[in-house]
Amino acid sequence: MKSNTEKFGKTPHQSSLWTRADALKVRADDPTTTQPLVSADFPVLSNEVFIWDTMPLRDMDGNVTSVDGWSVIFTLTADRHPNDPEYIDENGNYNITRDWNDRHGRAKMYYWFSRTGKDWKLGGRVMAEGVSPTVREWAGTPILLNDQGEVDLYYTAVTPGATIVKVRGRVVTTEHGVSMVGFEKVKPLFEADGKMYQTEAQNSFWGFRDPWPFRDPKDGNLYMLFEGNVAGERGSHKVGEAEIGDVPPGYENVGNSRFQTACVGIAVARDADGDDWEMLPPLLTAVGVNDQTERPHFVFQDGKYYLFTISHTFTYADGVTGPDGVYGFVADSLFGPYVPLNGSGLVLGNPSSQPFQTYSHYVMPNGLVTSFIDSVPTDETGTQIRIGGTEAPTVGMKIKGQQTFVVAEYDYGYIPPMLDVTLK
Ligand code: FRU
Repeated sequence: MKSNTEKFGKTPHQSSLWTRADALKVRADDPTTTQPLVSADFPVLSNEVFIWDTMPLRDMDGNVTSVDGWSVIFTLTADRHPNDPEYIDENGNYNITRDWNDRHGRAKMYYWFSRTGKDWKLGGRVMAEGVSPTVREWAGTPILLNDQGEVDLYYTAVTPGATIVKVRGRVVTTEHGVSMVGFEKVKPLFEADGKMYQTEAQNSFWGFRDPWPFRDPKDGNLYMLFEGNVAGERGSHKVGEAEIGDVPPGYENVGNSRFQTACVGIAVARDADGDDWEMLPPLLTAVGVNDQTERPHFVFQDGKYYLFTISHTFTYADGVTGPDGVYGFVADSLFGPYVPLNGSGLVLGNPSSQPFQTYSHYVMPNGLVTSFIDSVPTDETGTQIRIGGTEAPTVGMKIKGQQTFVVAEYDYGYIPPMLDVTLK
């Protein structure tokens, strides 16, 4: 069978650039692109576990899907250790901040279910201990494949290395709840190649993760987005005229921004099942702008491709900055060119008074944006904080042409289905 890249020709596309000039347009606290303040008295989903990245069950076209009336989400999850001596400080208090900050090293994939699209009930771990080949089970995407309930979970197997993998199982429902069965054989798909996507050998701070497979609404082929960094030894990247963009006098100095090399990667499936993938050049690069464009995902609307990705203040390059939150870009065709939404790329950022209140935003095709609570200040100075590890209030957003607008706020962790599949 002819590969899709052969159909496209040798060089399918040029990467679009998020430039320093674009990023200079970022305005924190613009109410149309700022998440409403999260109150410090938020409820937590569970006292046993922290959750962060939330991955709603969806179909290959991006629609959030319930099964037999049950909504299902997957979350990165880690045990809380309120009684573990390791996390008790010299005053005998639980150091929840340290426990929370350590969570990435023990992240596991869990699932939750609900009849109402909120008030989630814990289902449990998706894979039994020992099934996943690495220590960390990092973010990805659960895809409902059919009305038999088959689910392909794409995720990132991390430490050692970082490999995009998938595991197939099945969702089973009863009157009382949902269970996940199978998920026993993890199939490695691909790793960074060092030619288009940076490897660990090139940079120990490299990122290669967060698969998001989808069917292109226009050509019908199967693709996958993922987070990467542009290939090359750390420090070797050039921040030239193209990466700088059209800046005012006095803004030409790029400082040490060559160390920030994020990109949104794309791969195309060579088969109908998504077992055999070929990496293509990045869709979007942020060299000289930012080092992380995490959890990239699409909303397909009005015949356009809305590309969203999450990023942090601390990963911005010298001379540019912006809030933690979700950024976006739009194009008329899959391979671009992409232009930043709202001029700058900023779509929904944290307010500067609560810079870490939420993260890992996921924009759904119905305009709802889910995220998790990281930490919220509990005093005026911001020195006292309350750790979240739970679902944030969902935000409603309108996407219009090249602009986005915050228009609503909903309950904590509100992720309603866009369609329901009755299992056979
Ligand atoms: C985003 C993220 C993902 C990664 C996971 C690790 O919050 O950094 O990119 O898969 O969290 O915990």
